[in-house]
Amino acid sequence: MIVSSDRLNISDIVSADLSFSELIENSLKRYLSGEDEHYDKLWQSMRYSVSAGGKRVRPLLTLEFCKLCGGDPASAVPFACGVELIHTYSLIHDDLPCMDNDDMRRGQPSNHIAFSEDTALLAGDALQSLAFEIMLCEDTLSRCDAKAAATAAFTLANYCGADGMVGGQVIDLEYEDKHADESVVSKIHLLKTSALIKAACLMGCIVAGADSEKLAAAEKYAECIGLAFQIVDDVLDVTSTTEELGKPVNSDADNDKSTMVSLLGVEECLRRADSLTAEALTALDAFDGDSSFLRDFATKLSKRRN
Ligand code: IPE
Ligand code: IPE
Ligand code: MG
Ligand code: MG
Ligand code: MG
Repeated sequence: MIVSSDRLNISDIVSADLSFSELIENSLKRYLSGEDEHYDKLWQSMRYSVSAGGKRVRPLLTLEFCKLCGGDPASAVPFACGVELIHTYSLIHDDLPCMDNDDMRRGQPSNHIAFSEDTALLAGDALQSLAFEIMLCEDTLSRCDAKAAATAAFTLANYCGADGMVGGQVIDLEYEDKHADESVVSKIHLLKTSALIKAACLMGCIVAGADSEKLAAAEKYAECIGLAFQIVDDVLDVTSTTEELGKPVNSDADNDKSTMVSLLGVEECLRRADSLTAEALTALDAFDGDSSFLRDFATKLSKRRN
């Protein structure tokens, strides 16, 4: 069934004068406004996890890189939402009993606790399909060059799959109860976390028609902030509280994971996060436009408390 449904049309949202955060929230709401008399539970479960919030790091990066490369951020909104849907699916699956077995996410019971394991699994699957539906639908192609849309969607598919986020999750689980050295932990971080952040940044550049030099610089920035992001996530797992994080603390130790914290200690981890952030800022020198938002953003992420 091929539908050009109202829930895939965000033209009124992107033509209004909204902030990037409002564009993301309003569009996600529209894209998730599906209903059905028989499988409404699926839509509710998809909305449950996406609308719980989260920092929206990845979609903001897509819109900011599009702007930095001189593109129209309105044309990048479906790609920003696409990466957030893939990220949310990865979190729903990450929390399942067969993975990290965590019962809280984004300040509320995890999807499989609020619904059921089967619904959580299928909500993740459906969020993944929805991401590609919105990036390649007629409404998106009315504001974005079709070849750019295809390249952006290909990039996300590539970075979220076996050679990206999913591959990283596999190694992460493989090394539970087993010692992983620094090079293995770095590879896990590069795949499970930097990969989606790379896709987010690259898609913004691709939609804006950026050249290969800018794409390489965006990828370098993303790789560094992604590695720093996961190091800080591992630090917060031992230094923060469930209230502040909105997800359980000590999850890594409970699952016998080797992390940068277990290998190097908190202080050295924070030093590494700082030096990766400095590397990310250097990568932004390749852009002529105003990169101050992306500079502040990288610094704030490395100092975040949740
Ligand atoms: C959590 O990502 C998973 C990691 C890659 C560490 P975020 O910290 O971006 O989670 P939300 O989107 O804010 O909930
Ligand atoms: C998850 O890493 C990265 C994903 C691809 C979901 P974690 O397992 O450390 O993420 P949190 O701490 O549960 O958010
Ligand atoms: Mg995990
Ligand atoms: Mg986890
Ligand atoms: Mg974690």
